[in-house]
Amino acid sequence: MKGVILAGGEGTRLKPLTLVTNKHLLPVFDQPMIIHPLQTLKNIDITDICVVTGGEYIADFMRFLGSGSDFGVNFTYKIQDGPKGIAHALLQAEDFFKKHKVVVILGDNIFEKISVPKEVFDNSYAYVFLKEVDEPQRFGVATLDKNGNATHIEEKPKRPKSNYAVTGFYIYPNDVFDFIKSLEPSARGELEITDVNNWYLKQGRLKTIKIDGFWSDAGTFKSLFKTTVFLANKKGFDSK
Ligand code: G1P
Repeated sequence: MKGVILAGGEGTRLKPLTLVTNKHLLPVFDQPMIIHPLQTLKNIDITDICVVTGGEYIADFMRFLGSGSDFGVNFTYKIQDGPKGIAHALLQAEDFFKKHKVVVILGDNIFEKISVPKEVFDNSYAYVFLKEVDEPQRFGVATLDKNGNATHIEEKPKRPKSNYAVTGFYIYPNDVFDFIKSLEPSARGELEITDVNNWYLKQGRLKTIKIDGFWSDAGTFKSLFKTTVFLANKKGFDSK
């Protein structure tokens, strides 16, 4: 099975840490951030992995990750020309996936655990993974009906209609690439992954899975700190 780690963007919310270093190479406790999404993919037996990042950073990722042999995986690298959004980053991996189902993780997403039902890989549904959070405003937010099915997803709503954040782990059928090619940039000039998810939703082809355990998108100082503390505690680190 194949998966992609999206590690583009400018890491604006973490400046000045990201002025010379890509966000996904910053330390989260004792390891560079990207090790965590890599481990998440390995945990679900994905070892053929594409890394997408901006041209100015690709050499740093290659130097750190190499061929993948040190990590028990095989890496392919693709360049995203400019921070044009998550869906645009995903499009760079079209050739890599060929006809495979498309497993996507954002490079700043840290999951304690995630389990993926086997049938996910053999059907033509898209899947989003939801986590209940206290501050949904900074995420894609799913509105659910009484059966737990998503009725709409809103990107960073000022007044969220639920506490269910759409995490940065997605599984798509292969037609995702054709849809992305037809997408128009949003008001912030990006191809939005939420537009992709809503397209599947409108067709009745989007399924939701709620996750347990710690989850964080380590893209802000608060969440980077929270994640560092979580991992330090988990490893029994004592600062005294
Ligand atoms: C992105 C997505 C958002 C999602 C989040 C998860 O936001 O646009 O829908 O909830 O990742 O980490 P970003 O972190 O790029 O602002």
